[in-house]
Order: sequence, then C-alpha cells, then structure tokens
Amino acid sequence: MRIAICAPVKAAGSITVSGDKSISHRALLVGAIARGATVIRGHSHGNDCRSTLTCLRQLGIDIKAYDDRIEIHGSGLHGFTEPADILDCGNSGTTMRLLTGVLSGQDMTTVLTGDVSLRSRPMNRVIEPLRAMDACIWSRANGRAPLSIRGRALRAMDYTLPVASAQVKSALIFAGMLANGTTTIKEPTMTRDHTERMLLDFGAALQRSGDVISIAPGKDLHGQEVCVPGDISSAAFFIILASIAPGSRITIENTGVNPTRAGIIDILRSMGADITRKDQRYLGQEPVADLVIMQHPLQGVDINGAVIPRLIDELPIIAVAATQAHGTTRVQDAQELRHKETDRIRAIVLELQKMGAKITEQEDGFIVHGPCDLHGATCSSHHDHRIAMALAIAGTVAQGETRIENAECIDISFPEFIPLMKKVCGEDAIRISA
Ligand code: S3P
Repeated sequence: MRIAICAPVKAAGSITVSGDKSISHRALLVGAIARGATVIRGHSHGNDCRSTLTCLRQLGIDIKAYDDRIEIHGSGLHGFTEPADILDCGNSGTTMRLLTGVLSGQDMTTVLTGDVSLRSRPMNRVIEPLRAMDACIWSRANGRAPLSIRGRALRAMDYTLPVASAQVKSALIFAGMLANGTTTIKEPTMTRDHTERMLLDFGAALQRSGDVISIAPGKDLHGQEVCVPGDISSAAFFIILASIAPGSRITIENTGVNPTRAGIIDILRSMGADITRKDQRYLGQEPVADLVIMQHPLQGVDINGAVIPRLIDELPIIAVAATQAHGTTRVQDAQELRHKETDRIRAIVLELQKMGAKITEQEDGFIVHGPCDLHGATCSSHHDHRIAMALAIAGTVAQGETRIENAECIDISFPEFIPLMKKVCGEDAIRISA
C-alpha cells in the first residue's frame, strides 16, 4: 500500500489514540499466567499485539477478543500446554523477548520465529542472561531467531543489564517468577516500567528499590481488570503534527503519561512546544492525562543520556520536529535505534534527506540543522511503522505531494492512524493508493 500526503494541513479537534502497545502485550501475558479472569479494555488493535494473542492461544490459553475488550481465563504460572506448532511472533520484538522469558521456565519445548525483520534482530541480549539462569535456548549462530526453547527449572540470579532494555528486563522478571529464589535485576538507565506496575497489581512478589528490581517466585497472580491508556508513542505523531502545522490546535484524550515513557513531552517543551496536560489521573497503576497541543515555533536542542530510553520509539518523529525547529538538534546515545524494526537512524536520515532535510547520520544518532524547507518526494517506509508515520507527518509541512511506499506496516502499532489524520486534517490530507 502507498499513501500520499498533501500539504499544507492544519490539525484541529479532539482525538483518542488506541491502547498502549507495550501495556497491551503485558496485560495479555500477565493475564495468561494469572489465575482466573482478566478483562483488558481499550487494548491496542495493532498487529503486534495480535501476534502475542495468537501465540498465547497456541499455548492453550482461553482468550476471547472483542472490539472493546479481551477476556482471558488464565490457569496460573504453569497453565500453558505445549504448542503443536512453531509460534510466530510476526514483527514483534516484545512478543518474542517476553515469551522467551516466560517459556524458559515451562516444562515444554517451543520454537519462536518471526518475519524477516524480527529474524534479523539481536536475541543474545535475552538468551545470555536466561542461560545464566539455566535456561536451555538455541538460536541461529548469530543469536538470531528462530529460537528453540526446552523449558526447565530455572535458577535465580543477580543481573545488571548491559543495555537499557525494557524487553530484556521484562523477560528476566517473568523468568524470575519461575526460578528457585529471588532474582534481582539492575538497570543502567531506567526503562519503561509497565511490567513492574502491572505485576504489582496482579499480586506478584516484586519490589523496586532505586534502579534494582527484585522478584521472588511462588506467588500466584490473580486475574484483574486492566484499562489500557492511549499510547503516547502513537500520540507522538499527532503531538508533533499539531506543534508544527501552522494554526493547529488539538486535544489527545486519555494518553498514557507514565514518566518512563513521557520523555517526548519534556523534550518538546524544552524545544518551545505548547503542550498542556489536563486532568491528570490514574488508570490502574498508570498515569494518564488529556494533552492539549497548539502550534508554536520550535528551537533545536541536544537530546542524549538518561532521556533516551524515555523516548526511544519517538526519535524518528522527533527528527521531523527538528527539521522545523530553528537551530541545531543533536541526538546522541541512541545506538539502540539501529536494532529496531529497521535501522531507524539510517532509515529516517535517508528518507528525510530525500525531502530536502539537512540531517546527517551519526553512529549513535543524528544531527539536524533547521529549519529546513521540505519538499514532497517518494519515500520508503523501510517496512517500519514508525518510519512510515514520521514521514507522513513530514509530508504535512512539505511543498507538494509526499508518497510513502509500503505503508501497510502502519498497522503494526496504529491502524487508526490514517482515519485519525483524516479526522483532524480533513478527508483530502492523506490518500491511500494501491
Ligand atoms: C518495548 C521496549 C523498547 C521499545 C519497544 C517496546 C517494550 O524496546 O523500543 O518498542 O514494550 O518493552 P527495548 O526493550 O529493546 O529497548
């Protein structure tokens, strides 16, 4: 599928983005290993969460999915049955890494695979610490999937993560619940803490003290009702659209503003963006707010250090904001971006250059000299949902038409993106062509 965006646009109105992808994955997994009924409301409708749901069904979990809710009947930490076939995690790194942690401690054999992108992503970061817990996992020679897991009793350990990764942290927490003692995990920099918040809600024996998490086994989890906040990583496209498209003003209701995810708000504000949080409240353990964004001139900033994990998925769209900011924006310490669905540093630099941006690639980030006069071009999504949507937003401030090829990948995280673009910018702002 190819999409075409016609500038100029002005964004106006009120929207709700669909449920947070990271929280939806975790609600499915935690519901599956809890005892009793879990009801998830407002879940992500993206293909990534569908991958988790399908794998869990193959593992024997009773899950009913409706438009507005998912009902899970979990039968405890050891309630899986050995699947008759390979588990396909699709494009989803979260599905593969979290499941690897859970399945390492189950008395069964499982094989996990994924699409071309997922089979090229590094899995040693999760295999190696799990092996240190006695897990039996095989990968291809380069630490890539398919992964084959012979589950067995696990040994507790104390581990310091070499890279800041919420997926690895979460895999080890799940494995820790199945181990023979208390496991502790230390993070180099704080990453999204949705697993910890949710497990506490479900009754796990988890403790947090500074940058150390400890998890003890032997405690049954109890099914819960989980209401999923709007995904700030999806809202990010509309926050930046409203910040840069002249005359814009939008409200994004019910958006998750967990501090471990809300780096984008802090950075955009430091660039001069006009973003107001209204009616901050809690949905379960997760803070949410309505965000009101008005277009406002931006200035370049330096983005590095501890904020990076708090906005890692938003860096492609931040690059777009930087093209409209006055001065230089310098992103550093973001080498992890090279290991996402595609090499996101290379992809966003290449594609924005095609549109006339003054952006250069660095080993661990990029530098943008703004403001840039962008022009329409034919761009590639690199089969990466966040690259496709970032380029679509760039198209709203470019001269002429911007075309994005292979844009069907948007459905990985945000199938409502195109309808919502039409809602806030008008029917003609974005078109789908075959
Ligand atoms: C995620 C963690 C991050 C993020 C990804 C989702 C999660 O990845 O980029 O989109 O749900 O835990 P890493 O753990 O690799 O940093």
